Amino acid sequence: MAKVLVTGGAGYIGSHTVVDLISSGHTVISLDNYVNSDESVYGDIAQITGKEVTYHQVDLRYLEQIEVLFEQSQFDAIIHFAALKSVGDSVKQPLDYYENNIVGLINLLKCMTRYKVQNFIFSSSCSVYGNSHDLPVTENTPLGNAESPYARTKQIGEHIIRDIAQAQIQLNFCILRYFNPAGAHHSIKIGESARNIASNLVPVITETAIGKREGMQVFGDDYMTRDGTCIRDYIHVMDLARAHTLSVDYLIRGRAASNVSIFNLGSGSGSTVLEVIQAFEKESGNALNYKIVGRRAGDVEAVFADYSLAQKELGWSPKYSLEDIMRTAWEWEQYRTT
Ligand code: NAD
Ligand code: WQD
Repeated sequence: MAKVLVTGGAGYIGSHTVVDLISSGHTVISLDNYVNSDESVYGDIAQITGKEVTYHQVDLRYLEQIEVLFEQSQFDAIIHFAALKSVGDSVKQPLDYYENNIVGLINLLKCMTRYKVQNFIFSSSCSVYGNSHDLPVTENTPLGNAESPYARTKQIGEHIIRDIAQAQIQLNFCILRYFNPAGAHHSIKIGESARNIASNLVPVITETAIGKREGMQVFGDDYMTRDGTCIRDYIHVMDLARAHTLSVDYLIRGRAASNVSIFNLGSGSGSTVLEVIQAFEKESGNALNYKIVGRRAGDVEAVFADYSLAQKELGWSPKYSLEDIMRTAWEWEQYRTT
């Protein structure tokens, strides 16, 4: 079993992954600066897994803070979630995004090489594909024009990793490109509880249904899609979590043909905004108050994943449906609001 350093382990995808790693027998050390999360999540993880999590308050922008952890432990693998992720904020505060996401990554990679950690898993995003007309997108689909500074930090991150991998062939990397993560752990003890105001579709839907918002907007119904609204690939957060545990095993067992592996993690099918709303209404029994407005700047018309490479190499395939996503997201919203 491996000793895994998880950065951003208190965050949304990080916390679910920590649960899956611990449940699979791995030892986890989590670091986070809680800029978009809360330390209390570790207590919830302990309730789910029956095991206490070792965690440290560390800000990745400061190399000396990270080094302390590498002095204390020899890690078998690093999973790097910690990043700022709001597309809209990144347009307003690009330097914060470059500093946090790029300097943080570089500092972590410096520690990886200095302290001889062999295996690294990086959180990337379907946003690196930009506006691709080649659907479903495969890992070979060329990277498009990044639609935001956030997306650019992910493209740059991928380039940095490829360069390091070429320079140091003994190191192994997985780059995981997530599509649209949503949903919550079936225990409903953890879910997405960002400090930032939600702007992603699924939390906007649940916040509207619970009354935190009076209504919601559907951005555009004049796209060339089956009902005119944008198509995305929604993937349950526990399916993503599982893919990280499988990636740890994949790297540690040396099963990769090259020292950089890139995998799309999506459900393989796209849903329109109106289909997501309908799925929510069916699961929750609530009619949503929404109105169609103009297009949102920077939105791509349609994107969904071909995940066959992750299936072949990692043995991963999604287990949860859009209905599971909507049900757990709704249960989580009700739980955290009461
Ligand atoms: P999140 O904000 O819930 O989690 C990120 C965690 O990193 C937070 O707990 C935050 O406090 C921490 N963090 C940020 N900067 C830090 C720093 N400098 N030092 C230490 N900790 C820091 O986000 P998430 O949804 O769990 O996303 C995890 C990763 O997946 C991110 O890299 C994100 O860009 C990527 N991603 C997310 C999505 C999505 O829609 N959620 C989609 C594609 C990719
Ligand atoms: C989904 C669809 C909106 C809110 C972003 C990032 C991407 C990745 C996932 C991190 C779109 C529509 C939304 C609303 C709406 N994150 N929508 N009303 O934009 O696909 O992807 O999150 O890496 O990089 O760009 O996700 O959830 O914001 O939008 O109509 O109030 O829902 O227009 O079509 P997106 P989203």
